[in-house]
Amino acid sequence: MTQRTLVLIKPDAVRRGLVGDVLSRYEAKGLTLVAMELRSIDAQLADTHYAEHVDQPWYPPLREFAVSGPLVALVLEGDEAISVVRALNGATDGRVAAPGTVRGDLSLSNRENLVHASDSEESAAREMALWFPNL
Ligand code: CDP
Ligand code: MG
Repeated sequence: MTQRTLVLIKPDAVRRGLVGDVLSRYEAKGLTLVAMELRSIDAQLADTHYAEHVDQPWYPPLREFAVSGPLVALVLEGDEAISVVRALNGATDGRVAAPGTVRGDLSLSNRENLVHASDSEESAAREMALWFPNL
């Protein structure tokens, strides 16, 4: 089934010059780029995007990270794109993520883990409407 998913290449990836590396993995996999924008976000957008996590004890430092510099927001399309992109990204914690994944190859952190991707059809719809309302 063809799906669309919302991806963020987070501020750590932009700072480290890894946007091209990350993007090339999605492209090489065969996913189609539908939208892409370099954005600097405020705390309000961070809170809305991470609504499910705002009460976590680790949310304040996550919010600081999310607003710490520009990020790249994009929408990818392809067969089973939601689960395919999650698999390419790897487990949340870069210290344990499998080699071969974005996080497993390039992150040593449970917070600064380079990428976000929608985790379900519902969250993809919500996040695409939030980040790309005109899509
Ligand atoms: O991004 P993913 O869906 O894999 O993980 P999540 O559990 O939905 O958490 C969202 C984001 O919060 C993670 O990608 C991390 O950047 C951050 N996080 C954190 O800062 N500290 C934690 N203990 C867990 C997650
Ligand atoms: Mg998540």
